[in-house]
Amino acid sequence: MTKSLSRVATATAIAAVLACAPAVRAQTDKPWLDPSLDAGVRAGLAVKAMTEDEKLTLVFGYFSTDAPWKKFTRPEGSLPDAAGFVPGIARLGIPAQSQTDAGVGVATQRSAHPRERTALPSGIATAATWSPERAFDGGAMIGNEARLSGFNVMLAGGVNLLREPRNGRNFEYAGEDPWLAGVVVGNEVRGIQSNHVISTMKHYAFNDQSTSQSELDSQIGDADARMSDLLAFQFVNEIGHPGSVMCSYNIVHGRHSCENAWLLDEVLKTDWGYKGYVMSDWGATHSTVESANAGLDQDSGYPFDDKPYFGAPLKQAIAAGKVPQSRLDDMARRILTSMFAVGLFENPLKGDQSASIDYGKNEAIAQADAEEAIVLLKNDGLLPLAKTAKTLAVIGAHADVGVLSGGGSSQVYPHGGSAAPNEGPDNFPGPMVWFPSSPLKGIARRSSATVTFASGKDIHAAADLAARSDIVIVFASQWTAEGMDVPYLNLPNGQDALIAAVAKANPKTVVVLETGGPVVMPWLNDVGAVVEAWFPGSNGGEAIARVLTGEVNPSGHLPATFPASLDQLPRPVLDGDNHGPRGKLYTVNYGIEGAAVGYKWFDKKGLKPLFPFGYGLSYTRFEAGGLTAQPSGKALSASFTVKNAGDRDGKAVAQVYVSPASDAGWEAPKRLGGWVKLDLRPGESRAATVAVDPRLLAVYDAVSKTWRIKAGDYQVMLANSAADIVQTQTVHLDAQTLDVTGK
Ligand code: BGC
Repeated sequence: MTKSLSRVATATAIAAVLACAPAVRAQTDKPWLDPSLDAGVRAGLAVKAMTEDEKLTLVFGYFSTDAPWKKFTRPEGSLPDAAGFVPGIARLGIPAQSQTDAGVGVATQRSAHPRERTALPSGIATAATWSPERAFDGGAMIGNEARLSGFNVMLAGGVNLLREPRNGRNFEYAGEDPWLAGVVVGNEVRGIQSNHVISTMKHYAFNDQSTSQSELDSQIGDADARMSDLLAFQFVNEIGHPGSVMCSYNIVHGRHSCENAWLLDEVLKTDWGYKGYVMSDWGATHSTVESANAGLDQDSGYPFDDKPYFGAPLKQAIAAGKVPQSRLDDMARRILTSMFAVGLFENPLKGDQSASIDYGKNEAIAQADAEEAIVLLKNDGLLPLAKTAKTLAVIGAHADVGVLSGGGSSQVYPHGGSAAPNEGPDNFPGPMVWFPSSPLKGIARRSSATVTFASGKDIHAAADLAARSDIVIVFASQWTAEGMDVPYLNLPNGQDALIAAVAKANPKTVVVLETGGPVVMPWLNDVGAVVEAWFPGSNGGEAIARVLTGEVNPSGHLPATFPASLDQLPRPVLDGDNHGPRGKLYTVNYGIEGAAVGYKWFDKKGLKPLFPFGYGLSYTRFEAGGLTAQPSGKALSASFTVKNAGDRDGKAVAQVYVSPASDAGWEAPKRLGGWVKLDLRPGESRAATVAVDPRLLAVYDAVSKTWRIKAGDYQVMLANSAADIVQTQTVHLDAQTLDVTGK
């Protein structure tokens, strides 16, 4: 390692090389620095000029945080307490890769001096906006903070499908539907990369639970895989063109993802034609020869692996003829192609410029995202809060001081520290961080009522306060984090009992949930209103207050089914065991549901969830109708109108589902084909057309590697949610065969 580090160029040296573009252009000895050339051509030219050791430098990444327990000191030129670093090569003008987590903003590893940055609401919250614009704006904002913080690679772009509602990382992803998740995450990636910062699609693939994640073999058939989780990745790739892809910790069909030739070489690089590079998750590499030959391009986060697998061992493997030289060239070419394509060369990092971050502007972007993400699940007329209420009780979940965030490597730290410090585990994935945006203060500022807070720790005191108040708002939280699944879908720490007691004392109870994903609600019938606010980010308290008081009309819709109980899931009991013997392997059979993830499983099994996919109420009323459906290109399109029939502005999410009239071999009765989110004034009517991607009408055939649409009648459904179909039209489609990319 010391040897490699001697080649580390300091950020200053790189900046000096690249400071002046015209001078760079004039360097005919470095033709790859000519920005007028195609990224792939430039990469090819650079690779030709590289020594083997320089190529080996490019494919080996370090942790960017000191790890004394591993006797590891972060490399020279890296930024402290960050995720990763790959040294640059000054001789060739190749900048270092400075890597930061992750999807909601610039994260810091657990540290006494974290970077304090803006946090978007969780990934699942952004998915609940059903807004590609919010996703893009959020991505652009965090990409800007990443660049100004000194990073040019962001490990953001999590899109694992929500197959397992107990997965501790669901908050980092975008729900259960391939098209919704693909569009949302694809746009976030586009936003990040608009700052000339590489974004990372992850965790590829089937890393859908945390329990035994590195020892868990995810079993799923090729066709099922391509019509579910892989389809979400495929859409992100097409929409966002992420510069990098992170292979995951888990095993897929007996091979760890980072040495899985089917996933990396066949599906991603050959079938989808992906030109960027694959980096391993931190500690997810298990071999040199197998990984290199299967398509891993960059071994990340040393010393997370038990030993370095690229670097010197890769050099030996090449010398021994076990890994072809052309593979090392390909690795280097792929990394450089993304660096050129995303603009890392023409836009060199200028060190720490965080003093120039416009936090006010960025928090407003995070808040706009949170406001559109909040889902009104139930409302018996309690919301928006009545102006006539004289006394409001606010109870629980630190609502006096802040809002919760999800834990682990993606943790962003707020200015001034957590609003409720010293909570959560003492080590990873702790701490539990509360963003200092107080819902209580936000409510109090917007209300003439007397607002009183109770922590909720004493159930009797909370119930007493509830009984004395006109309206009660109970906040409940579920902390989820990387590395641990939740054991059940109930709210933890006696909060179900708290809500039940409060609702008994005063049925005019509003419940505000801050959760990582779906939860069950045994008290649902006894409360007057429920709002799902997820982990709402930097200004989350303000966003919640604005929704509760009616300044903002809620327009979030569930990106995942909320089951009524664990019994309804394909796997009522989680596979794996975090406390099992070291080295023991486990299997998770995703073949049970195959591609029928989430609402598709519920439809197929005829199960009634607690709340369906796509569901979300508003303070106004929308009328959707006038549906027509017609074949269009190789697929179909649906046109309709939506009217705001209520008396306040609001945003409708009109959803289009598709279904074959007779058996076409689909995994489930229907699929989301598309949607549109429309901002409508009272009385306003708007026409919209949704084009359905042909793959959403097809079945993947693994033998011929084609998507096949069967000839026949198809039902096109205009809907408020997966369980609320407003109108149906039938359209006849001719048979179509599409290639593996859906063309
Ligand atoms: C996580 C990745 C993250 C990496 C670097 C891993 O534990 O799974 O999502 O990007 O750490 O911090």
